[in-house]
Amino acid sequence: RTVEWDAKSAEKGGFEHFMLKEIYEQPKAVADTIHPRIKDGKIVIEELGLSDEDIRKISRIQMVACGSAYHVCAAAKYVLEKLSGIPVDIDLASEFRYRNPILSEHTLVVIVSQSGETADSLAALRESKKRGFPVLGIVNVVGSSIAREADSVFYTWAGPEISVATTKAYSTQLAAIYLIGILFGEVRECISREEADHYIQELLKLPEKIQRILDEKERIQWLANKFSHTKDVFFIGRGLDYAISMEGSLKLKEISYIHSEAYAAGELKHGTISLVENGVLVVGVATQQELFEKEISNLVEVKSRGASVLGLTSYGSYSMEDTADFTIYVPRTESCFATSLAVIPLQLLAYYISVARGLDVDKPRNLAKSVTVE
Ligand code: AGP
Repeated sequence: RTVEWDAKSAEKGGFEHFMLKEIYEQPKAVADTIHPRIKDGKIVIEELGLSDEDIRKISRIQMVACGSAYHVCAAAKYVLEKLSGIPVDIDLASEFRYRNPILSEHTLVVIVSQSGETADSLAALRESKKRGFPVLGIVNVVGSSIAREADSVFYTWAGPEISVATTKAYSTQLAAIYLIGILFGEVRECISREEADHYIQELLKLPEKIQRILDEKERIQWLANKFSHTKDVFFIGRGLDYAISMEGSLKLKEISYIHSEAYAAGELKHGTISLVENGVLVVGVATQQELFEKEISNLVEVKSRGASVLGLTSYGSYSMEDTADFTIYVPRTESCFATSLAVIPLQLLAYYISVARGLDVDKPRNLAKSVTVE
């Protein structure tokens, strides 16, 4: 008996969609991005072209990107400020390029892009260079326009990403941020050698922890089927969990066409909570220990107004179950790396909801893989 494969399904490596294949490639993609940058227990990123002296001189980091890559910048603001002590500003490329941004001396501009061809991000790069600021590109596609025009390039080794909804590129961009954060932090003596070593050890465990989440995908699948008819979803979180919420919300809306929004949990009562009623789903992301109780009190508020609550937290934080109707757990890690784990169930949730609704997962309506026009 012979098994017949058509070319397209062969490329999908037995997976039903490219998105699922790419979700499953994340442990390897993250490992491939991290490993070449660790030498003899220390982080070495020669391609940055920055001496220790250059790193010490940086007064500010300006990050610019679109879509999910912008959500990486949102996470990077928390991570880089914590690890390196350098103030970080973030901007949407479509805003930055027309804003006449004020950049101070010794600002490092960082453009994040999977494709390296996004028109607004490329324009932001050109504008920054025109004004004489050094530009670092965090790019996936080798030889793309942003990679060619940036002063230096940190390549994420995610491999080709076909699905319009980004997954593995996003995860490798986060890994790039962690590596840069630890490197800058140690050089600038914001973290000690011992602390840097601890972060590196935790970083090296991420691929295996991502795999553990993937191995438990059935529960997410079950939840996705349960919530596939929901009309409105709010993703809420504080600190880094707010950054994850933005990505979870975008992932869901772009492939399931369900209305969803992300909010900093503390902002809810400044307006949005008036939309919360029976039938609304609130996904409460709570991986940041020091903000856990605050997040729970927001979840209590939305629940008392009729929302269903899906909690997403780390193993050990079992009190989430006192408030949430359903809880998803991810392995524990350093709090500044938690985004890399919490995003995985959110990708799976969006994926399985899209499948349950019978939609074109890999090619959602009105969207292109790379936005090369304004
Ligand atoms: C994410 O799932 C999107 N498809 C989209 O937001 C994307 O991240 C954005 O268009 C930026 O693309 P780039 O990384 O190729 O610049």
